[in-house]
Amino acid sequence: MDLIQFERVSKRYVIGQRMNAREAVAQATSRLLRRGASPSSELWSIKDVSFSVRDGEALGIVGRNGAGKSTILKILAGITAPTSGSSRTRGRVAALLEVGTGFHPELTGRENIYLNGAILGMSRRDITLRFAQIVDFSGVDRFLDTPVKRYSSGMYLRLAFAVAAHLEPDVLVVDEILAVGDAEFQRKCIGRMHEAEAEGRTLVFVSHDLDSLTKICQRSLWLEGGEIRDSGPTPTIVRDYLNSGLAPAERGHGLAITSGPITVAAVRVRPDSTVAGGADAALMFGDQLRVEIEFDVSAETPGLDLAVMVTTGSGVRVLDELLSEQSITRFTPGSYRVEVLIPPLLNAGDYSIGLWFGTPHEEFLAEPAAAMFSVHGGDPTRPDRIVAAKLPFAVHRLASINVVD
Ligand SMILES: Nc1ncnc2c1ncn2[C@@H]1O[C@H](COP(=O)(O)OP(=O)(O)OP(=O)(O)O)[C@@H](O)[C@H]1O
Ligand SMILES: [Mg+2]
Repeated sequence: MDLIQFERVSKRYVIGQRMNAREAVAQATSRLLRRGASPSSELWSIKDVSFSVRDGEALGIVGRNGAGKSTILKILAGITAPTSGSSRTRGRVAALLEVGTGFHPELTGRENIYLNGAILGMSRRDITLRFAQIVDFSGVDRFLDTPVKRYSSGMYLRLAFAVAAHLEPDVLVVDEILAVGDAEFQRKCIGRMHEAEAEGRTLVFVSHDLDSLTKICQRSLWLEGGEIRDSGPTPTIVRDYLNSGLAPAERGHGLAITSGPITVAAVRVRPDSTVAGGADAALMFGDQLRVEIEFDVSAETPGLDLAVMVTTGSGVRVLDELLSEQSITRFTPGSYRVEVLIPPLLNAGDYSIGLWFGTPHEEFLAEPAAAMFSVHGGDPTRPDRIVAAKLPFAVHRLASINVVD
């Protein structure tokens, strides 16, 4: 039985729709005066998207920033309506979209747990049965009787996830929870989603963490520019998505991804021994690799930071390095080239370079496949290891044994 049915769904946004009440009134008035003049600019966030999810199935959604992933989840959760087409869900849907969606700020943590349970159609008794588990998972027990408006964003998030994941929804919809929270909490979330999947709940999961997505979701959709580019078994989709990297990095072709104040102009990977700007050199097993990222910053952005990721062709994240962990750099508006050296440890295989730009409060760009590269050579008899570090061994003889015939 299909619990989710999305039929030819499209969603149009009017650009500049994120405005306050006064601006909205002003715009409505001027539109009235101009008598039906159409708004200046529209954007189709998703176009003609159809899919269905069976009872007990876990569906993943991948796609670059702005591809329309969150829009699909918001429509699924009934937070926004499609412009055309229809979205039907059966059963209780619990959605974890933006931090705290569905929480009432004036109510305490305890009251919000009951409120959310009631919204999901659960009886007081059912909620009480689950209450201890939710509180335990969230770790906010000391603040249960504090209004959630006084919670830190981390506490808010932990409680929201605990509620969404434990209140036995038929359909659990989760958007990028893994981007926030500490490593321990992320592990708990992934664990809980595995359990939900094993319990036979229907899941829809959007994430840039392709490794977790592969572990949890059997099937995935790949969105591009608001349309479904492909769908199928997650490992296949993840591989094709990663391999669609905007440019083969070895050749250093230009690309331009703009998001917020950032425009990424080029991503290159070359053996460290070649001179910058040198010929296309193949990357060989045992080379130290130099990753070069060229980008422009168009506005003063306090706290701007970047991360460089390396992911295998099957979606396992091997490296995820944050600039601010190594050096404090202030990016005033201008053009930059950042270089990162990767020691010679990657085994032969296909990899993609991911980029992240943001501040502690805001994410501008999260692109798991900005470019791809291949490492050649290596030991063909042992292909199934990602890292070949050539670690030093020490052998100590502790005693000798006399062998008697
Ligand atoms: N409320 C809104 N008003 C105007 N445009 C919007 C609104 N919400 C989304 N959009 C636009 O719709 C498009 C799809 O956005 P959406 O948030 O669904 O993408 P996404 O795939 O979730 O991206 P990300 O990976 O960055 O989370 C984007 O171009 C976005 O700017
Ligand atoms: Mg999103």
